[in-house]
Amino acid sequence: MLTFAAWSTASLAEDGVLSYTAAQAEHGRALYRQHCASCHGNRLNDGQFGTPLKGSFFRSRWRGKTSAELLAFAVTQMPPAQPKLLSEQDHADVLAYLLQANGIAPSEVVFSSETLRLDSIVFSW
Ligand code: HEC
Repeated sequence: MLTFAAWSTASLAEDGVLSYTAAQAEHGRALYRQHCASCHGNRLNDGQFGTPLKGSFFRSRWRGKTSAELLAFAVTQMPPAQPKLLSEQDHADVLAYLLQANGIAPSEVVFSSETLRLDSIVFSW
């Protein structure tokens, strides 16, 4: 246990590893279906009015940027008509769902909108 705790803290604080929990992704999926799927599609890449949120196009757009930038974009721009509709933590949960859809495995470490370290987490996918 001690080893794991030390590892998870280190991975968040020092290595900038992306992490989220399975429960977050599940909550994020429900929010996504309600607030995002009408434009981005139920499968995240089959939307009529929004760009794909999974797959190589999406990943290449965000490669080299930080998860803080992606969260800030979602919080300030999405959904376009009501950017303040979801809380920052709800947006973090939706992003957890997006991470899952893009092949990042869940862990025990929450993807928190309050984590200052989001700045140091660079997408390398
Ligand atoms: C009314 C349609 C609409 C809804 C609803 C909507 N989006 Fe979008 N979204 C768009 C459009 C259009 C773009 C492209 C905007 C641009 O490139 O400036 C976009 C872009 C994005 C991007 C950036 C994609 C990229 O490749 O850079 C993300 C992330 C995103 N949306 C997330 C969300 C999330 C999360 C929700 C739900 C909370 C949501 N969107 C709801 C229309 C929508």
